[in-house]
Amino acid sequence: MTDRIAPLASRPAWKALQQHADTLRPQHLRDIFQADPSRGSRFTAQACGLFLDYSKNRITDETLKLLIELAHQSGLRERAEAMFTGKKINTTENRAVLHVALRAPRSESILVDGEDVVPGVHQVLDKMAAFAEQIRSGAWLGYTGKPIRNIVNIGIGGSDLGPVMAYEALRHYSRRDLNFRFVSNVDGTDFAEAVRDFHPEETLFLVASKTFTTLETMTNAHSARAWTLGRLKQTEAIARHFAAISTNAEAVTKFGIDTANMFGFWDWVGGRYSMDSAIGLSTMIAIGPENFRSLLEGFHAMDVHFRTAPLEKNLPALLGLLTVWYTNFFHAQTVAILPYEQYLKRFPAYLQQLTMESNGKHVTLDGTEVQADTGPIYWGEPGTNGQHSFYQLIHQGTRLIPCDFIGFYKSINPLGRHHDMLMANVFAQAEALAFGKTAAEVRAEGVPEPLVPHKVFAGNRPSNILLAERLTPYTLGTLVALYEHSVFTQGAIWSIDSFDQWGVELGKVLAQRILGEIESPSEPSLAHDTSTSNLVRLYRSQR
Ligand code: F6P
Repeated sequence: MTDRIAPLASRPAWKALQQHADTLRPQHLRDIFQADPSRGSRFTAQACGLFLDYSKNRITDETLKLLIELAHQSGLRERAEAMFTGKKINTTENRAVLHVALRAPRSESILVDGEDVVPGVHQVLDKMAAFAEQIRSGAWLGYTGKPIRNIVNIGIGGSDLGPVMAYEALRHYSRRDLNFRFVSNVDGTDFAEAVRDFHPEETLFLVASKTFTTLETMTNAHSARAWTLGRLKQTEAIARHFAAISTNAEAVTKFGIDTANMFGFWDWVGGRYSMDSAIGLSTMIAIGPENFRSLLEGFHAMDVHFRTAPLEKNLPALLGLLTVWYTNFFHAQTVAILPYEQYLKRFPAYLQQLTMESNGKHVTLDGTEVQADTGPIYWGEPGTNGQHSFYQLIHQGTRLIPCDFIGFYKSINPLGRHHDMLMANVFAQAEALAFGKTAAEVRAEGVPEPLVPHKVFAGNRPSNILLAERLTPYTLGTLVALYEHSVFTQGAIWSIDSFDQWGVELGKVLAQRILGEIESPSEPSLAHDTSTSNLVRLYRSQR
């Protein structure tokens, strides 16, 4: 499929965008808005309950037209269709990319190697629902006959960030009489703090690992096993206090977890795209199967929108194309994710893996160097905290940082004027970023001349505003799928494999080697560079 696609720099729309960017860069959003009175309402799009205002971007109708041409010339539509129909678009791992199947309704069918994967997805969902209900109702008893009160998810990367983010985001919908904790780091403190006030009799561990080989997760899982057996003594207790979420049944059995308590998924689900698979078991236990289904419906609604809506009205495509625009034509290096919703406090961290593990690539699908910068750095914090921390740099620093503001019409916790104040800040920040404050305006306020340059806001700093009614499981599903497909759009333009992650391998291999050296009873012969060898020697002598 990629054979037909010309290298990025020789696509006609790419060349046209380069010229167009040269004419647009000197223009200020103040003038762009003045020249086009309908812009504020026209450069908007809505779908699946999300409203996107992208008018405060440094774009014109011409920019949009060219970006959409670029999407077509890059085969975005064909590539998306290949994903939705189970083609092996993750070519370096020879795998289909079918997180969209995780939220497909029962009635759909999606074939991978001639086999419909949708019935299997629903079988697992049903099994998860039955298990979740048992925990939630207190019917599932621990080894000594006590109901489970504490659920500890052990996983890392996609097997942690999605579950943590979703738990925090949907806390309002979760069972408050159950405690949820998440252990990811191999730093023993993470495990120790997670269980310090828990009793094994009432604690259930969910060991979440696609491969069931990840060093951090396996180490934590073994510590959890030892902690459980330390009190409950009998190995039969493990079956009542451990469940596994994995694609690797053999390793799960070897660990001693009953495969009856194993929830499977498939190699066509990438770790960072797995929060709506069995990896979401902790989420389902917290919010209940019905809310989990509503989360999946949100995901699915956005999938359908991405697959079918014209690109000019397609939220994920627009977000993705705008990111390409700033990354490649304005040399922006980052994107700030600024949720004005406290429950979304882990959303930026979640998006970091989704976006950067996906698009942090330097070669195209055919192995040649990409002809432009790829994946920008995503980061952020919930508003308004960021305003009193790093917004200074966004407003007056020397870098261009496109921002995504996320807000809601209604608060889950209405409290006096809090929500109106919160939302006033969203609109004010985006306005200040775009339009700034000129020297003339500063002087008119009577500011002494030496201070004028310090008080000028250049403006012309782009942002998107995403609004929805209220943060619900459904809305969360739409938001996550929105960014998944934005990442997809970016990857398609750059012709990279957004679904592998070879870059994490080297560090893992070297860590295993160094661990052996650190633990060696005799002095190891170290053949690293002089810095690494010296550090290993120092650590061995001081540990
Ligand atoms: O090392 C990176 C990674 O492979 C991620 O892609 C993945 O989400 C994480 O490790 C955890 O992997 P697993 O679920 O197999 O333990």
